[in-house]
Amino acid sequence: MASEYILQRDLKANLPVAVRGEGIYIYDENGKKYFDGSSGAAVSCLGHSNQKVKDAIIKQLSSIPYSHTSFLTSKPTEKFAKMLINRAPDNFEKVYFLSGGTEAVETALKLVRQYHIENNEPQRKNIIARKQSYHGNTLTTLSVGGNQQRKEAFLPYMSECMHHIDPVYAYRLKKDDENLEEYGIRAANLLEEKILQLGVTSVAAFIYEPIVGSTLGSVAAPLSYYKRIREICDKYGVILVSDEIMCGYGRTGYLFTSEYTGIKPDLITLAKGIAGGYQALAATLVSSKIYDAISNGSASFSHGHTYIGHSCATAAGVAVLKEIEDKELLTNVQEMGKLLKEELKSRFSSHSYVGDVRGKGLFVTVELVKNKDTKECFDPKLKLFSKIKQTAKEFGLLCYAMGGTNFSKEGDHVLLAPPFIINKKQVIELVDKLELAINKSLDAKGILCELE
Ligand SMILES: Cc1ncc(COP(=O)(O)O)c(C=O)c1O
Repeated sequence: MASEYILQRDLKANLPVAVRGEGIYIYDENGKKYFDGSSGAAVSCLGHSNQKVKDAIIKQLSSIPYSHTSFLTSKPTEKFAKMLINRAPDNFEKVYFLSGGTEAVETALKLVRQYHIENNEPQRKNIIARKQSYHGNTLTTLSVGGNQQRKEAFLPYMSECMHHIDPVYAYRLKKDDENLEEYGIRAANLLEEKILQLGVTSVAAFIYEPIVGSTLGSVAAPLSYYKRIREICDKYGVILVSDEIMCGYGRTGYLFTSEYTGIKPDLITLAKGIAGGYQALAATLVSSKIYDAISNGSASFSHGHTYIGHSCATAAGVAVLKEIEDKELLTNVQEMGKLLKEELKSRFSSHSYVGDVRGKGLFVTVELVKNKDTKECFDPKLKLFSKIKQTAKEFGLLCYAMGGTNFSKEGDHVLLAPPFIINKKQVIELVDKLELAINKSLDAKGILCELE
């Protein structure tokens, strides 16, 4: 059914109507079943029919659905904040709840600014981020993000305070004569170069996705990278913001990515999986370093939205985290993630157009190239990624396919991020469906012509 009154992302799209969810599957109103291979956009970590989470929301709804945070706090909000701080890296002290990832990043950027003002360094206004990253869709977060395609139309609105360095992208950027760890150091040193270029006392923060999500397709950095960027930030008084909205909260097998990176950031943003899609929830986690500066200074944070700390959303957050822990789902993420990557590697190792299979946990990407030796990309006009997404949907698979993998100019990849509850049989079903979709899309007329 075409949406009569909704302004859709794609104005010509004729979207099926979702009416029911069962585990990792979604059903539309015609009874067609879809395998949710990307948990929407890495959101639905518990699948679509978790009774405990639904019950927790209903219980909260029946007591007090909403109260404004300038007047009152609520039990689930207090409880969830405590649960998060107890599990976060030990330098974290406070939580600011929001309704979406973009708001969490905006909040982090404001906290960065306020931190420097409290410390009498108002000249620190430059933010360094990375190309091929995504941090949200409002003007400031788009501006700080490095996804050129998404920014293009809004360039006149973008802030001059945002600066971008290259991402860590070993598949294309590692030199043959360096090992991964050496490459990690070289990539991290780009941050120092940029700080020196901008002026050491002008830089406020470095924000990054520790494991890049949709724009580059689940790319982790070598461990040497993280250690070095932490050193550089400390050396120059730069705040380190870890945007874990897509890669965090269990998606890569760790609740907080510092378990993998080995470093402690100053601010962490979370969203997507924290309420599993049952409610709209996000959070900015604040370290003692940032909190103390504000609390010993002005003691007020000039920020807020109507729905922050919504009690039904935080009640969902409590229930989702309990489910993740009670069912030991992080172990399942690691085991099923390993199987998924192995299956994809064995299925596609001799495939002519799959150049790379990468990722961690249930955050795995297949990158497609026209020539595996030269890593040449398909002509972006073919929109191979979009064909794969569409074909997969016809086969009953929802997957997150994106273009612009290679510095927003060209490149195609498919990101898989199934719910944490996936089982072995379903991993095979996912790979079978993806293989069908890729092969059918490559057989499409336009693409065959391109290859001839
Ligand atoms: C890393 C990252 N940051 C921020 C955002 C923005 O989150 P939201 O879409 O909930 O506003 C996203 C969304 O995909 C993301 O992946």
